[in-house]
Amino acid sequence: MNQAALRARQLMSAPPPSAARRITEIVESPLNRFFGAGSFDVGAQALVEEGGVLYCPALEFEISENEARLFDPRLSDGKRKSIYLRGKSREIFGSSASDADNDILRAMLERYRDSAMELVLQLFPTYRGAMLAASTSFRPRPTGVGEASLSWRKDDTRMHVDAFPSNPTHGVRILRVFTNVGAKARVWRVGERFESMADHFLPRVPEYSLWRAQWLKRLGVTKRLRSHYDHIMLHLHDAAKADLKYQRESPQTTIEFAPGSSWICFSDQVMHAAMAGQFMLEQTVHVALHAMAHPEHSPLAVLERAMLTPLLPHRG
Ligand SMILES: [Fe+2]
Repeated sequence: MNQAALRARQLMSAPPPSAARRITEIVESPLNRFFGAGSFDVGAQALVEEGGVLYCPALEFEISENEARLFDPRLSDGKRKSIYLRGKSREIFGSSASDADNDILRAMLERYRDSAMELVLQLFPTYRGAMLAASTSFRPRPTGVGEASLSWRKDDTRMHVDAFPSNPTHGVRILRVFTNVGAKARVWRVGERFESMADHFLPRVPEYSLWRAQWLKRLGVTKRLRSHYDHIMLHLHDAAKADLKYQRESPQTTIEFAPGSSWICFSDQVMHAAMAGQFMLEQTVHVALHAMAHPEHSPLAVLERAMLTPLLPHRG
């Protein structure tokens, strides 16, 4: 067992899972650069697509002095968790900084986006031409503080898979690259593997209504039709967060991501909760399903096997 897995085991706060309820795998990688990473991790794609977390303790993102002097929670506009860019747009959201400081922040975020996208291409070569940079964020506020006062749906200290009410994905994957640029460890809980989590909560998912999905789209509540797949993902997200007994007692591991480290996972597949930490960069990458080397592990494939029915509209 490697060091990270060993540490994760030591920190395990629940009884060991049975074979049927396997825990998310966390594997440590010697990767130490964003560019030219191709030769490092031949097994990274299989690990991450199978629902594991690739942890790179030595993968540091360099922050200039000019950028570091801006690291202050007051940088946030107080309305959003992050300061972020959307895709290739230069508009910056969530910041209360001056125009000059926003220029510095924007340059840092763009540099991180370019580094993270290059890293993903190197580690996951089949994604070339099938991936898109979604948001690039910087989180200046301490994580976990005040979350309990949010609605339980927004409380990310409760384990969940990512699914967003207004943004149906139709199975497009949500890959995330994270880097801890703060001085404290970032602490996550990760839970059981997607398959067993889905087994546990699928009986609680209400029936899908195409009529209701069409109505939500017409009202502008969703940006596109909420597919049967998106309906299930959203209810899995909510059911897990709403179940405090599950949060306490289901198989889980606590992991500390050290300052100056990075980690990568599919957040629509890995049960995760962010418990503590401050100052983090994160790149969200949308990846087309057809680019997966191991599509049989995707949440869509797992759910279609469990439901015995196609979950996306208009597929051959
Ligand atoms: Fe999340």
